[in-house]
Amino acid sequence: MFLHGTSRINEAGHLEIGGCDVTELKAEYGTPLYIMDEQLVRRRAREYVDAFTASGLGFQVAYASKAFSVMAMCRIADEEGLSLDVVSDGELYTALQAGFPAERIHFHGNNKTPDEIEMAIEAGIGCFVVDNLVELRLLQAIAASKGANVKILLRVTPGVEAHAHHAYASTGQTDSKFGFDIGNGSALEAVRLASDQANLQLLGVHSHIGSQIFETEGFQLAVERIAEFTRKVKEELGIDFPVVNLGGGFGIRYVEGDTPLAVSDYVAAITDAVKTHFAGISDHLPEIWVEPGRSIVGDAGTTLYTVGTSKEIPGVRKYVAVDGGMTDNPRPALYESKYEAILANRANEAGEETVSIAGKCCESGDMLIWDVELPKVNSGDLLAVACTGAYNYSMASNYNRIRRPAVVFVQNGQSDLVVRRESHQDIIANDVVPQRIAKQPVTK
Ligand code: LLP
Repeated sequence: MFLHGTSRINEAGHLEIGGCDVTELKAEYGTPLYIMDEQLVRRRAREYVDAFTASGLGFQVAYASKAFSVMAMCRIADEEGLSLDVVSDGELYTALQAGFPAERIHFHGNNKTPDEIEMAIEAGIGCFVVDNLVELRLLQAIAASKGANVKILLRVTPGVEAHAHHAYASTGQTDSKFGFDIGNGSALEAVRLASDQANLQLLGVHSHIGSQIFETEGFQLAVERIAEFTRKVKEELGIDFPVVNLGGGFGIRYVEGDTPLAVSDYVAAITDAVKTHFAGISDHLPEIWVEPGRSIVGDAGTTLYTVGTSKEIPGVRKYVAVDGGMTDNPRPALYESKYEAILANRANEAGEETVSIAGKCCESGDMLIWDVELPKVNSGDLLAVACTGAYNYSMASNYNRIRRPAVVFVQNGQSDLVVRRESHQDIIANDVVPQRIAKQPVTK
């Protein structure tokens, strides 16, 4: 298994992350356990900030909190000077409760509810990314009723098909549920309308072309198309865009064969394209915003499991089951995503058998990894799956009423609990048994 960030094999032959031996983390917190390498998260955040600073352009790096939204992560994003992208009242609430400055929060989504819009305006967030005309009218009406002036970007689809890891992760093409299409004229119409709304201040446009992208071409093409559009808007409507938001989607290495670029290379490709294509459209180059999620937290996460049962089917394969699965990592079942693993308590031993890692859900699709080479695996061994920091905890479920794991941050030999493990009590916390069918007075 590739060792990311501060991960290393220590003298005892155990996996160690952030200076913490994972066998000790298991003893303290139990398994399954999400372990986040705090130093690596901060390093990734700084790589973005440093690369944009070097470009000389104005910028905001908004951490896409959908990748991993918990209060401690919002604190780190704030400390590192990032902005924050939220897509629901839940993500907004998390950020506000963590003390994240509202003016650096951007609200996304293709179906923001009136309640969400009110909550965000009352909190004083920095910007709405408006997805469609229904939302535009609703936002204007709510802003007017509150006497508020609200900054907006318009989400556009530049007609770029990014080479994302799965069709569900491509969003920049014309046939998408998101945004106003540039190609068919609806984006220009939206700009005309938006600039007419008394309580809305149009800052510019937003595009997000997909996720887990390894090449720069898609981003460069999006910049080119948006620049052409910006020129047209300027010529036909006399409107300038002070901001262009290019979304997220920067890829990371999950398994051998994944070939992400360095953060600085993605940023340089984007900022160079902006300098080339936006030159001369108006007096100033626009401020560039991006929204990385996966590439800030993905490779910093490791999930630690305890091995339970195994089953060998002679001539077919050996299944090894762990105490988690699709409930804490639905990505293999959803996208056929691939992961690497290591036997974390005997990490210095050579591979001896090829096994497939199964989860514990009542579902045959609940497989975490097919065919991974490990030392001979026994019950009670610890299995670490790497690169689980993004879209794992945030997409976890209670299927089969399995309790969601704890999350710890590790750094410099210290571990800090940032999400406690769900209890049995948590599992039934929202259940209500009507008295008429209750067997006994309900106690919780
Ligand atoms: N901005 C917008 C508008 C987005 O829709 C997304 C991701 C991002 C930024 C962040 O993209 P990132 O840098 O993380 O690639 N659940 C899927 C990924 C879905 C991505 C949705 N939007 C997965 O597990 O691969």
